[in-house]
Amino acid sequence: MSQTIVNAPSFVKHTKLIAWVAEIAALTQPDRIEWCDGSEEENQRLLDLMVSTGMMRKLNPEKRPNSYLASSDPSDVARVEERTFICSAKREDAGPTNNWEDPAVMRDKLNGLFAGCMRGRTLYVVPFSMGPLGSHIAQIGVELSDSPYVVVNMRIMARMGKAVYDVLGENGNFVPCVHTVGQPILTAADDVKWPCNPEKYIVHYPETREIWSFGSGYGGNALLGKKCLALRIASVMGRDEGWLAEHMLILGVTNPQGEKHYVAAAFPSACGKTNFAMLVPPAGFEGWKIETVGDDIAWLKPGADGRLYAINPEAGFFGVAPGTNTTTNPNCMATLDKNVIFTNVALTDDGDVWWEGLSKTAPAHLIDWTGQDWTPDCGRKAAHPNSRFTVSAGQCPSIDADWENPNGVPISAFIFGGRRGDTMPLVVEATDWQDGVYKAATMGSETTAAAVGQQGVVRRDPFAMLPFCGYHVGDYFAHWLTVGEKLAASGAKLPKIFNVNWFRTDANGKFIWPGFGQNMRVLQWIIDRCENRATGQDTPIGVVPRYEDLSWEGSEFSQELFTAVTSQDKAAWQRELASHDELFSKIADKLPASLKTRRQTLGEKIDV
Ligand code: OXD
Ligand code: MN
Repeated sequence: MSQTIVNAPSFVKHTKLIAWVAEIAALTQPDRIEWCDGSEEENQRLLDLMVSTGMMRKLNPEKRPNSYLASSDPSDVARVEERTFICSAKREDAGPTNNWEDPAVMRDKLNGLFAGCMRGRTLYVVPFSMGPLGSHIAQIGVELSDSPYVVVNMRIMARMGKAVYDVLGENGNFVPCVHTVGQPILTAADDVKWPCNPEKYIVHYPETREIWSFGSGYGGNALLGKKCLALRIASVMGRDEGWLAEHMLILGVTNPQGEKHYVAAAFPSACGKTNFAMLVPPAGFEGWKIETVGDDIAWLKPGADGRLYAINPEAGFFGVAPGTNTTTNPNCMATLDKNVIFTNVALTDDGDVWWEGLSKTAPAHLIDWTGQDWTPDCGRKAAHPNSRFTVSAGQCPSIDADWENPNGVPISAFIFGGRRGDTMPLVVEATDWQDGVYKAATMGSETTAAAVGQQGVVRRDPFAMLPFCGYHVGDYFAHWLTVGEKLAASGAKLPKIFNVNWFRTDANGKFIWPGFGQNMRVLQWIIDRCENRATGQDTPIGVVPRYEDLSWEGSEFSQELFTAVTSQDKAAWQRELASHDELFSKIADKLPASLKTRRQTLGEKIDV
């Protein structure tokens, strides 16, 4: 395709951007180029197009106004960590937790794969801002994609469209993101509803801040503003510029006296971040309020007052559907009333959606996520375990008034939580910032359906960032330590750091802690610890509340069960420390000395 056909509209004034689009078009050979403006008209046209090709179905507008259901290819249902690469100039900069390839080798490989890959398709130019438009914390990206599904999802998940070009001007910085589903169009008669390719590459060049994604049309593999830009590339920007890009929800807690705190909490994928971010305080917590700033990603920068301020770089939620219902997350259910794109959930006979856990009894008949008839006794899941909804954050009834504040919200506490059937107590407070960094660095969690691979296996997931840290994890720990030192030097109060675990199980494998709204009891203790008005007991691993330190109004959770979710077993902790050692030995000489010392002290305390 020649440069003239690129045909940039008059509102695009950025010559480098136009030249780059021409260069990618020359490589990928699309039939046409569409410069997205983010308008309602454009959005509707693309949705209609996907309905006409069978990629999407419009849901019954009386049940779910303006909502759609997409069903992906069964081979393209989750992030592909094995196929995700950090191509830093030096292998050691990617570290032991990332796949690495030499950037020159990878560029060669991708140039081959991308050559002609958009023949027969449209190349969409998708400008987007992660973070409120024009915020000093925001970053601009431009994704070139041959997937209309990507365009309509990006429009919800980021600030997408014409206004981004105004911020970019003639020579503003942007992160170039190139995406193709990688499906060759063989003949006009090809009836491929969800194009993708068995070969997949999700590639990041951290030094040049570029992203290239081949072969998948799903979620974090394809919506490149999310995990690729807002975490992998942004974590590198944060390292270089003194801020943090984290896999964290952000919520505000207000007590009956009107005192408000914000906390940021990191959990691995599919461990209840959206539910926690939208928590409804239970009976006994009248007058308390939880408000949502974000459910997945936080960018945190030190403010002029020495405190850390967080923004949610996203504009929407791409949440896991199964398990979401009016009891577990009523705010989310209300958010999903209208204007939603669902992917891989089941279709009801009256044109609405269903997933496991939505209602106690399943409908008598459904079309499952693979398009087959489904009945409750058929032995298959109706929705894929990693099925998702995409919806605007602004629709959430618990959205915080400051969720789009370009300066962010001040953070009082960090919470780190894994999915652990044993070992980790319900909550433990780190003794100081360094201890908190140790705890977050050594976090473990059972794997979930959010990524392709075996599920339910405990793996170390430092800071819940294992699949998302764009550089050497040892340098990342050091960066967190440095940020803490700098904040402390400014004289401001550092956020306190806590570990939580909602997932302890009994001898029958059943969760002991009721979770969801009941997590408010733990959150209250956390806030009260920040204000020095709650007590707890010192244990070898940090301060843990006693039964009487939490408020149990409106609850029948017994002291005995509380002991079961807070107990510390010496043998289990010795195994846990051996697993910390395994992680640390991989990090080798990049492991900060202070974490090595912490490991030793912890070992001594546990062995007593
Ligand atoms: C997500 C994930 O989609 O963490 O948020 O996988
Ligand atoms: Mn996530």
